[in-house]
Parts: sequence; structure tokens; C-alpha cells
Amino acid sequence: MKGETMENPMDMTGRTVLVTGASSGIGRETAILLSQLGASVVLVGRDAGRLAETQSLMLGQNHRLEAFDLNEVEAIPQWMKRLSATTGPLHGLVHSAGVVLQRGLRFLTDRDLQEVMRINVHAAVALAKGFRQKGVCGTPGSVVLLTSTIGLIGLPGLSAYAASKGALISMSKSLAVELAPENIRVNCVAPSLVRTEMVTNSQKQMTPEQFASLEAAYPLGLGEPRDVANAIAFLLADTGRWITGTTLVVDGGITAH
Ligand SMILES: NC(=O)c1ccc[n+]([C@@H]2O[C@H](COP(=O)([O-])OP(=O)(O)OC[C@H]3O[C@@H](n4cnc5c(N)ncnc54)[C@H](OP(=O)(O)O)[C@@H]3O)[C@@H](O)[C@H]2O)c1
Repeated sequence: MKGETMENPMDMTGRTVLVTGASSGIGRETAILLSQLGASVVLVGRDAGRLAETQSLMLGQNHRLEAFDLNEVEAIPQWMKRLSATTGPLHGLVHSAGVVLQRGLRFLTDRDLQEVMRINVHAAVALAKGFRQKGVCGTPGSVVLLTSTIGLIGLPGLSAYAASKGALISMSKSLAVELAPENIRVNCVAPSLVRTEMVTNSQKQMTPEQFASLEAAYPLGLGEPRDVANAIAFLLADTGRWITGTTLVVDGGITAH
């Protein structure tokens, strides 16, 4: 092997990946990283301006902006069919769009629960359904769903969010088995706190002391969106070719103790 250079096993040249939540945080960073790895990216979010901001930070020209409200769950599979007729087959799907709700059980309504489940879970099912359609999915196909360590451990006031993220973890295992014959892998990435808008918003509801003690609980400190994007890209690329039905925890060690 001396003198030979190794091909980058995470090279995504020639692959097209749809990323939801691409207008912000982890989804934005994932879109940027995938472009640096050579992928064409379909950027999905409701805010066209912020999607364009993400695009301005990406490498290459072969990307597409799709302003779409994932609350339109029933429309998702047909929308993906139309989309892939223009972009060509999709090799990857990343569901990073999500809503977080911090609300004690006493105040939690059924409507709250439905709103959280709609984007976090129902849209995930519809996206997976859309992705596996004939003519939409390229070979090999890889799906990465953004769950959370809150789907694995308990924290007060987060039961609706936890239910949605736990649902993704169990759902990904069933989908992994169901879709393996179609050459589609399905995995989750479970981050803990990383510095995104979602975290800045949660921080506003805490005292500085509360936030400092939260931060101190992380053996490796708080994460950055790139830490999570790296894990997502690893699962999408051929580096993940023998991995399906698993949840990769990316949490600075918080759940290790
Ligand atoms: N940040 C963390 O520390 C953390 C920790 C654990 C897990 N996670 C999970 O990681 C994922 C990304 O988190 P983040 O912090 O990057 O989120 P974020 O910065 O708050 O961004 C949320 C994204 O979801 C999109 N979105 C929300 N509702 C939508 C809808 N109805 N239709 C289309 N897009 C919609 C938003 O786009 P528009 O506003 O343009 O619609 C935005 O791009 C989420 O699933 C979250 O639960 C995050």
C-alpha cells in the first residue's frame, strides 16, 4: 500500500440527498458538509430565505431549494415523486426538521402532542414512504432520522418530545428490516445539546446558573452542529454500508453516567 493514496470512504460524489430542516442548525450544517463531500442536496424547510442562506454556505452549484411545510403530511410522497423527476433518484434522506416542546404534564394538551408528533414522527413516516417509491430512491439508499437522547433518558417537561423521539428509534428498527431487501438502510442519530437556535431558545427559559450547571454535566462539553453532521454523513455514505436499524448516540458523554 506504500505510496498509494486512499479514496475518501465518505465521498458522496454522484449522490443526491434530501435534507429536511436545512434552513437551520443541524440540518443546515449537514447540507453544508454533504456538499463538501460532493453530494447534490435538496434543501427543505418553510423559510426560503434561510434555505438560500444555507445554500450560500455550500460547495458546488448542483443543489435545489424546496420551500415545503411538512405539516402537509399526506402530500409528502407525491411531492417527493415530482421532485425526483427533476433531480433524479435520491440516495439519501435526512429528517432533521423537528419541533421541541417543553411543557409539564399538567399543562400538556392533546393538541400539543399532535403538533409535536406531526412533524417529528408522522412526517418521518411519510418521508420514508416517499423515499422508497419506485423511481424516487437510488441504489443504495440511506435514511437518517434525527432523534434525541431524550428518546433514551427521562427529563421533566419533555414527555411529548420524548415520545416522538422514542417513536423514531423503534420505528427505524422496523423500517430497517422492512426496507433492507430494497437496499435501503435506516438509522437514527441521537444528539444531546448542541449549539443551535433550538438550544438558544431553551436557554432563554433558564437562569445563567441553570445553564452553566447543565453545560458542566457534559464530560466533553456541549456539541457543535458539525459534530452531529459528521455522524449523519458517516451513516449516509458507504462508511455505513453494513449499519442499519441502529441509533448512533452523539452526546459528549452525557448518557455515559
Ligand atoms: N439542537 C439540539 O441540541 C438537538 C438535540 C437533540 C436532538 N435534536 C434534534 O435534531 C433536529 C435538528 O435540530 P436543530 O436544533 O437543528 O433544529 P432547529 O435549528 O430548531 O431547526 C428546526 C428546523 O426544522 C424545520 N421545520 C420545523 N417545522 C417545519 C415544518 N412544518 N415544515 C418544514 N420544516 C420545518 C425548520 O425550518 P423552517 O423554520 O424553515 O420551516 C428548521 O430548519 C431536530 O429533530 C431536533 O429534535 C436537536
